[in-house]
Amino acid sequence: MTTAVRPLIAGNWKMNGLAASLSEAKALAQALAEQPAATDVALCPPATLIAQMAWQLKGSVVAIGGQDCHDKQSGAFTGDIAAQMLADAGASLVILGHSERRAYHGETDAQVAAKVEAALRAGLKPIICVGETLAEREAGRTLVVIESQVKGSLPAPLQGAPFAVAYEPCWAIGTGLTPTLAQIEEVHVAIRRLISAQLGESGAVAPILYGGSVKPDNAGEILKVSEVGGALVGGASLKAADFLGIIRAL
Ligand code: PGA
Repeated sequence: MTTAVRPLIAGNWKMNGLAASLSEAKALAQALAEQPAATDVALCPPATLIAQMAWQLKGSVVAIGGQDCHDKQSGAFTGDIAAQMLADAGASLVILGHSERRAYHGETDAQVAAKVEAALRAGLKPIICVGETLAEREAGRTLVVIESQVKGSLPAPLQGAPFAVAYEPCWAIGTGLTPTLAQIEEVHVAIRRLISAQLGESGAVAPILYGGSVKPDNAGEILKVSEVGGALVGGASLKAADFLGIIRAL
């Protein structure tokens, strides 16, 4: 990690959490108020909890994010949420192009790029996810896949805007499997090279998060890997104690 990169540890609650789960977010914010973290921290709850969480964590260091947004500002798109609506509810970030969106909703790189532009227009900081499948890794295609996702999902307006990239190998998400530290480094270094070339200074300072089965007991070694500028955490972000264990590992 270069010194200019401000790390980010973001929790992705996915389709988990009811109003009662807000107590975990409050416990997290309180612990970070008592002992500040050495990193930016964000929670991305389901859309139903964004406004309440933003309200309850107002003034805390924990930023709130969405998990997806539509690329249009408004209109007849039943069930979708515009970037501006996330911002209006109190979000300052949004996860885009998560592999679960790509796999279960058929999102393409071009659609992810359009969503990134919508997020920027709404003043949200996008966390753009890329990652190979197990078949792609086994076929030796990891870097080719990552390069095409980075080129296709990160549009030119990111130049001059704050953003983060998350490298999440699909086969490591929710499986307890993680790549070796050398494999993580290889991809992160490649992403840094690509985004610096593509987006200049903003690409040089954007944190590149690792995601996929990050837990309190493996976070320390992963976060030390060159060009790993934080983590995108799924399952282990649901409980304040686990998420804090990861945050404190930095
Ligand atoms: P996981 O999910 O930490 O549960 O593996 C990570 C993610 O999908 O962002």
